[in-house]
Amino acid sequence: MKILVTGGAGYIGSHAVRRLKQAGYGTLVLDNLVYGHREYVEPDELITGDLSNAALLKDVFTSHRIDAVMHFAAYAYVGESVENPAKYYRNNVAATLNLLDAMREADVNKFIFSSTCATYGEPEQTPITETHPQSPVNPYGWSKVMVEKILHDYAAAYKLKYVAFRYFNAAGADPAGGIGEDHNPETHLIPLVLDAAMGKRKQITIYGTDYPTPDGTCIRDYIHVSDLAEAHVLGLKHLVGGGESDVFNLGNGGGFSVREVIEVAKKMTGLPVEVVEGERRAGDPAMLVGSAAKAKQRLGWTPEFSGLEKIISTAWAWHQHRFGIKKEV
Ligand SMILES: NC(=O)c1ccc[n+]([C@@H]2O[C@H](COP(=O)([O-])OP(=O)(O)OC[C@H]3O[C@@H](n4cnc5c(N)ncnc54)[C@H](O)[C@@H]3O)[C@@H](O)[C@H]2O)c1
Repeated sequence: MKILVTGGAGYIGSHAVRRLKQAGYGTLVLDNLVYGHREYVEPDELITGDLSNAALLKDVFTSHRIDAVMHFAAYAYVGESVENPAKYYRNNVAATLNLLDAMREADVNKFIFSSTCATYGEPEQTPITETHPQSPVNPYGWSKVMVEKILHDYAAAYKLKYVAFRYFNAAGADPAGGIGEDHNPETHLIPLVLDAAMGKRKQITIYGTDYPTPDGTCIRDYIHVSDLAEAHVLGLKHLVGGGESDVFNLGNGGGFSVREVIEVAKKMTGLPVEVVEGERRAGDPAMLVGSAAKAKQRLGWTPEFSGLEKIISTAWAWHQHRFGIKKEV
């Protein structure tokens, strides 16, 4: 089987490509390289192009025998989505429609979608299950809800079968090395803390220390990127095996506070991290933790790297490699 992976030159997509290959699937990556990394993809498997290009999509589906699509390509900066919603609705929603329509024309009916816990908005209860209301607090989250709705309607009207995965906070890197988290700009806590440990940034700011959590800082659910990749392979098998369209949270069902992340990063790196305590940021819930019981039960998914130490140690190995400190990774 050949899988088209959009956004496969990005962080999570490149890990999924690796896992797909290990599981015996053929892969083809479509990425505009706006945020992706050419070196993450085998040159003969990369189509450099944009999902807004309907003619290109038609050509991809007519010149390759694609069996299923994994759709990672999107823009994912929450703050930018508030300042420039058009960019997010065009890229995350309109371009996804192009992709779905090209699939429909080519009679490709299996689709795995990268959704997000940002679709839930402010949690009403924790851990968040898939039945929790979806009420995002920013256009990025809304763009993902809209695609989920489109998928629901396309599945009802056409032959589409889909799995939408709502990820919590992706983190870590493949222990085998060579690929990892490298967003530019970076907004995720673990790479930012590692930057501070390495002296690439002066300090790390904790936004809010008066939340109703044990140490006063926000709690988030971190999920290892290799575990996310594995879930995608299981989601694909679910659809190939005739399973129904469905939506699954992917998280660890437990959370770690900002202070805990900083402490574990200090321990794993053996380096000091300068911390500044700042004000709360608007729209940051105290706690975002998901229940992945459904993915475990129905897909047989078992996260392998659930501890923070395992997650941060793989992120640290990658980080050192990226900045040329540890060449062998
Ligand atoms: N990183 C997280 O913690 C997280 C959490 C929840 C959901 N997600 C979702 O997972 C997906 C992957 O996230 P990531 O962290 O790997 O991001 P990323 O930026 O590393 O990867 C996305 C890739 O898509 C490409 N891309 C974007 N728009 C495109 C277009 N129109 N045409 C072709 N290529 C395009 C980018 O160049 C990039 O390589 C995204 O859909 C994101 O919304 C990520």
